[in-house]
Amino acid sequence: MVLLRLYLLAVGGYFGCCLASYVLQVDLFSFAVDDPAIIVSQSAYVEQEQNRSYLSGHLIFNKTVNEITMRSSMNISRPRLPEVRLFDVKLNVCQMISNGYKNRFVRVFYNSYASFVNTRPACPIKANFNYTLTRAYLNEKVLPELLPQCIFRMQLVFQHQSKPLAHMQLNGRLSRA
Ligand SMILES: *[C@@H]1O[C@H](CO)[C@@H](O)[C@H](O)[C@H]1NC(C)=O
Ligand SMILES: *[C@@H]1O[C@H](CO)[C@@H](O)[C@H](O)[C@H]1NC(C)=O
Ligand SMILES: *[C@@H]1O[C@H](CO)[C@@H](O)[C@H](O)[C@H]1NC(C)=O
Ligand SMILES: *[C@@H]1O[C@H](CO)[C@@H](O)[C@H](O)[C@H]1NC(C)=O
Repeated sequence: MVLLRLYLLAVGGYFGCCLASYVLQVDLFSFAVDDPAIIVSQSAYVEQEQNRSYLSGHLIFNKTVNEITMRSSMNISRPRLPEVRLFDVKLNVCQMISNGYKNRFVRVFYNSYASFVNTRPACPIKANFNYTLTRAYLNEKVLPELLPQCIFRMQLVFQHQSKPLAHMQLNGRLSRA
């Protein structure tokens, strides 16, 4: 938690400052369904082009969903240093997509990916709608100045009514341009 707070402080403090120039490469983007009665179709893939990684995929729910929680954690490792956990937080997805989180870090990351979805995500999540993400990428300019060059492993674990729904893995590396 101390690390998370320090990190968020850095994000808050240096936000909007455009001196940083990073290359964010995603090596693995995977999505696995834990409850196939609710998520009936999905895909997730990453395309590399020059210095950017583009994420695409789709999701179809078999029923209207009103409540999803997401546990999000990220570990980073750097040369000659032990792997550290940068954050481990539990979020209410409906609150996140209705912009209910004041935290800038959450908002900026969510908004930068949400703009690549074929509809403005909202709760309840619609049944039988093909939610499609098309060539999403993170604008490197939103990243704070103080981030270390590192390898990161991010995991998102989704639950519906306290039961496993799906999990997602995002592995990659952040380097200076
Ligand atoms: C989707 O939901 C309907 C109605 O609830 C059910 O009959 C059907 O078997 C479900 N499909 C899958 C793939 O679970
Ligand atoms: C992250 O690090 C923690 C310990 O610091 C470890 O328990 C966990 O398995 C790691 N997670 C991943 C996705 O590597
Ligand atoms: C959903 O949309 C994606 C992207 O356009 C497409 O690849 C996929 O086949 C669609 N799935 C269904 C079941 O319509
Ligand atoms: C990526 O490469 C393109 C062209 O090769 C360049 O215009 C752009 O500034 C680069 N972006 C970063 C983040 O280095």
